[in-house]
Amino acid sequence: MTVFDELYELGKKRAKHTVWVFSDLQQAKFENAKRCLDLCMEDYLELGAPAEMLWYLGDSTESANYGELLRMTKLQEDAFGRLGVPLMYASGNHDYDYADFCRRQGIAEFSMPFYEMVQDHPGWLTTKDCEETWFKFELGNYMVYFFCDHIAHDNSWCSTHNRIRWGREQYPYGQEHWDGIRADMEACEKPHIITAAHCAFPGGNRDTEFLGKIQPLPLRVRLHLYGHSHIGEYNCPKERIFSEIQWVDWQDIPQVDVASFENIRGSFCHSVMLQIYEDDTLGLFFRNHDKKEWCSAFFPKPYSVEEPGNYGRRAYLSWAPWDGVEKPEDPGEGYGARA
Ligand SMILES: [Fe+2]
Repeated sequence: MTVFDELYELGKKRAKHTVWVFSDLQQAKFENAKRCLDLCMEDYLELGAPAEMLWYLGDSTESANYGELLRMTKLQEDAFGRLGVPLMYASGNHDYDYADFCRRQGIAEFSMPFYEMVQDHPGWLTTKDCEETWFKFELGNYMVYFFCDHIAHDNSWCSTHNRIRWGREQYPYGQEHWDGIRADMEACEKPHIITAAHCAFPGGNRDTEFLGKIQPLPLRVRLHLYGHSHIGEYNCPKERIFSEIQWVDWQDIPQVDVASFENIRGSFCHSVMLQIYEDDTLGLFFRNHDKKEWCSAFFPKPYSVEEPGNYGRRAYLSWAPWDGVEKPEDPGEGYGARA
């Protein structure tokens, strides 16, 4: 048992909301995806399936093999559907692999099987229309904003990797669009905001261009969660392959890389359990599903005008870990007593 196992159990008793956050199962080979998913699900069920929501941050499938995409979609709908809780989905670049293939082949029709399944699945949530860039929902005293990759109905433009992928001339969203999202956040009736997307804000791993257009974020944004940059992958994130926690550039707002749900590109099957406590502070626990252990934890300190300077803090607990823990019996006078 590690200190994180103990902290997780203590935090669990105090959490009023728990969310399981993951991303990037994305195998082109069905058997690999199934092996990783089975491993993660077995571990999650052994933890007692504690989450009231699942936040899936993109790249659920990979490749333009339509038959395999349908198999991957069914596999995951069955597995997550059995948990009986809402699933929120932010699409990522690999969700558009088949659309890209169709475009290159000159085929007008295209499809994104996993994304469309989420749209149709009762109680699950993503953008209502594939051209939309974001959606939001409530969780306690938090408003949660999900940003999605997006594509034209006629496939004339597409945005993935936090940038325009094709159809720059037709792409409809200028700076005023992103300003509108920030205005919606500013007017939000909730005291706290969490944002999530497949990609990071500036300051995070890999591509960050589009989300940077929303900055400066309102200071009630407590956290950004993202995937895409598989922890432990030597190919893409390069020197930042093991960086899980960063801060949004120029802002006192932490952002956390939760990728990936697979152990082929990534070093092991990762996910994050997010706990929200009574006073709305947050706890994030990083899971190694291969080893079935908590490998790290992060307790961001909420920004306050009175006490700015959250950056660099990795542990701010508003609850004492020893509260409610049974104390050993008093050994009596003379044993370890101070003079
Ligand atoms: Fe990705």
